[in-house]
Amino acid sequence: MKVSVFHTPELTPATVVADCAIAVDVLRATSTIATALGSGAEAVQAFSDLNKLMAVSETWAPDKRIRAGERGGSQVEGFDFGNSPLDCTPERVGGRRLFISTTNGTRALQCIEAAPIVLAAALINRDAIVQHLLQHKPETVWIVGSGWEGSFSLEDTVCAGAIVHGLQQELGCSLDDLAGNDETIAAVSLFRQWEGDLLGLFHHASHGKRLLRLGITEDLKYCSQLDILDVLPIQHELGVLIKQA
Ligand code: MLT
Repeated sequence: MKVSVFHTPELTPATVVADCAIAVDVLRATSTIATALGSGAEAVQAFSDLNKLMAVSETWAPDKRIRAGERGGSQVEGFDFGNSPLDCTPERVGGRRLFISTTNGTRALQCIEAAPIVLAAALINRDAIVQHLLQHKPETVWIVGSGWEGSFSLEDTVCAGAIVHGLQQELGCSLDDLAGNDETIAAVSLFRQWEGDLLGLFHHASHGKRLLRLGITEDLKYCSQLDILDVLPIQHELGVLIKQA
């Protein structure tokens, strides 16, 4: 298995695909997706375009859908949710489909949607991702950070590092055996430096600071936890993720 890390969708090769591609948006889209599925959402359907989300979700009964829209960290007017994983309780999302569009995370998912296996990873479900990779052993794996409007983000890269570090520990191999590019080695170094204080790292991250300015502190705490959710969000049809049983 060779794992390559790409910091943003823009840096991800557009002409080839990996056997398994993993989108990461720790703050907060992939944390929200994993939480919604863990709380019993029927599926999560991701859109980069808000109007398209509205049109598709309109065909669903109101009691079977939740519309989540976020831009710049804030909830979009007229949507049921913004992008807080803490809104995704079993009472609110159980049995419903979450239709979601966020600034960067849903774009990252879209950029890898052609891969044979598409997963959504965050720190909270890191081990579920690691176990899936160990079980299926895809030859090539891409981990794609969402970043922020084309720029690198610390929280996505530290999560990529956490996944590769977990794999390395389970396989007992060298980092060189696993790394498909230099970014993979850098991501693992970042994780090793911050694994004891992931919340502290979020306080240095530009999007972490943006969310703190908006008063969104509890989400940061929640999203900084490692391996608290045994949920594997996997693409079932284009743009639709379900929880793998
Ligand atoms: C994104 O897609 O950029 C994020 O999930 C933004 C957010 O924190 O809501």
